[in-house]
Amino acid sequence: MQWTRKDLLGLYDLSAEEITLILDTAEEFKKVSQRRVKKVPALRGKTVVNFFVEPSTRTRVSFELAEQRLSADVVNMQAQASSLLKGETLLDTVRNIEALQVDLVVMRHSAPGAQNFIARNLGCGVVNAGDGAHEHPTQALLDIFTMREKLGSVKGLQVAIVGDILHSRVARSNIWGLLKLGAQVTVAGPATLVPREFESIGVRVCHNLDEAIRNADVVNLLRIQHERQTADFFPSIGEYSKFFGIRPDTMKKLKPETLIMHPGPINRGVELAGEVADGKNSVILEQVTNGLAIRMAVLYLVAGCVQK
Ligand code: CP
Repeated sequence: MQWTRKDLLGLYDLSAEEITLILDTAEEFKKVSQRRVKKVPALRGKTVVNFFVEPSTRTRVSFELAEQRLSADVVNMQAQASSLLKGETLLDTVRNIEALQVDLVVMRHSAPGAQNFIARNLGCGVVNAGDGAHEHPTQALLDIFTMREKLGSVKGLQVAIVGDILHSRVARSNIWGLLKLGAQVTVAGPATLVPREFESIGVRVCHNLDEAIRNADVVNLLRIQHERQTADFFPSIGEYSKFFGIRPDTMKKLKPETLIMHPGPINRGVELAGEVADGKNSVILEQVTNGLAIRMAVLYLVAGCVQK
């Protein structure tokens, strides 16, 4: 299997073989971070710009660290300090970045499809670090990598994704990736945040937590995304937590080895109790560790396809 894309925009477009190639490559890069000298020359001479037009902690730091471990030259651009504020269009901004002989742009944006648009108009590679409620491919890849590492194989796994599915790019990218690798996916939450329409893409829709998590191998919890909600989707946070939050007593209903996952940032006491986030089934911080290996793999593969 040969990687042929200069961009990584989403998992919807990728084949099972392409996803597996990224996971296998990440497995090798994970070993680099376990060495005494945590650096390889794979991207020496390449320049990467991280352009985040939306807030981020995990993804931004993880991409920057991945670029440094691959020996790339790295520039971080903050939208709040860029000429976007002076009226420059997104396309003009990124064309100017490209004119500086940049090889890769890693971008987060609130508009779904923004990265697809710039990828069509630029010769350099584009990596999607999250676009609105559309896709967050590297998050889903690190989630799937963690499932494969912990449980051996993704095929046949029962994965419950619980929370604000409607506004979640993480849910969408997970759904595409997991279905392609042969997992069974259940999405769960209040009917307003998990509409029945999701059934048309091959997932089970559930509005009862106990039913959703019964027999689950993985429970992936999502944050309520107030910043993307344009209406009140449930009466109160307290009520959401009562019906869909995972508490220590909920854990007794799960199989002993069920993984508790969360892309972060977590809201303790809302989608999960602090004891669950820090408990023995939680792999939340291992997801963050694996994110570094996934991002090294993605940058390495796409950089190899950028024509300069
Ligand atoms: N999971 C995730 O995308 O977190 P950040 O918003 O902190 O990057």
